[in-house]
Amino acid sequence: MSSGIAFVNGRYVIKKEAMVNIEDRGYQFADGVYEVIAVSKSRLIDLNAHLDRLSRSLAELEIAWPCERRVLILIFSKLLKRNHLKDGIIYLQITRGVANRNHSFPENKVRSSLVVTVSKLGWPSEKKFKEGVTVVTMPENRWCRPDIKSISLLGNVLAKEFAHQKDSFETWFLDFDQSITEGSSTNAWIVLPKGELVTRQLGRKILGGITRGRVIELARAAGMLVSEKPFSLQEAFCAEEAFITSTTSLVMPVIKIDGKIIGSGKPGPITIKLKKLYDEFCVRGEV
Ligand code: PDD
Repeated sequence: MSSGIAFVNGRYVIKKEAMVNIEDRGYQFADGVYEVIAVSKSRLIDLNAHLDRLSRSLAELEIAWPCERRVLILIFSKLLKRNHLKDGIIYLQITRGVANRNHSFPENKVRSSLVVTVSKLGWPSEKKFKEGVTVVTMPENRWCRPDIKSISLLGNVLAKEFAHQKDSFETWFLDFDQSITEGSSTNAWIVLPKGELVTRQLGRKILGGITRGRVIELARAAGMLVSEKPFSLQEAFCAEEAFITSTTSLVMPVIKIDGKIIGSGKPGPITIKLKKLYDEFCVRGEV
């Protein structure tokens, strides 16, 4: 459940009473970007990496920062304090601003809109991490820049709903060449028989997940081989293990894809190890 106070365009307001202009380009065109940052014991997990990605998303869309980076960090800490939140998530959304509806960018300079909320997100249950989750697949249905963390999420919404209707946790997108790109709100991974970890390389086909980047670093530091390259659905079916990563799913084991059992049908040792390494990182923070 989300907490009571939000930051909306320069003011701290009661969330239930918060309003945005109906001519905000976020509302009209989904012309904006967002970030989701985990808060664990008052620590903002991988804050700098999230803000670097935000900066990139804004630059790609030529949307101006609504305030300085250090001011944004101040808003986060004020909101957490005001909402008495130590564990949960920060959601922030920046749109191009308010202007008469016209597809091209507003001619007169408008101020970017900034909304920040915090919530007590229910993380997936321990049971889910212990048992693992199931994944289904569907053809890629998104625009061709999923590397930008844009609020245009209709394709992702339809994909997540597809998973929901199939009693699954996530949908992985299949590219035209039958390779997996990523999940509707997570990055996709498999473990090959010799222990090689595979996840799609960065580029225009996936969002550069912050959790993905951190897990790559932790895995390599632990001596594991990580290859950033495409993998096919067929390779996933034959994998020893599979898992997904994201800010809100952490490292979540996948035990079935499209009804086919992966590996032993239980969370595998490498996934369990990575989950532990990531959990420890969240407690310890960056070194
Ligand atoms: N989802 N891929 C997609 C399409 C995503 O939406 C996300 C994040 C990820 C993982 O990124 P990260 O590790 O930085 O969370 C990958 C967020 C959590 C969301 O939309 O709620």
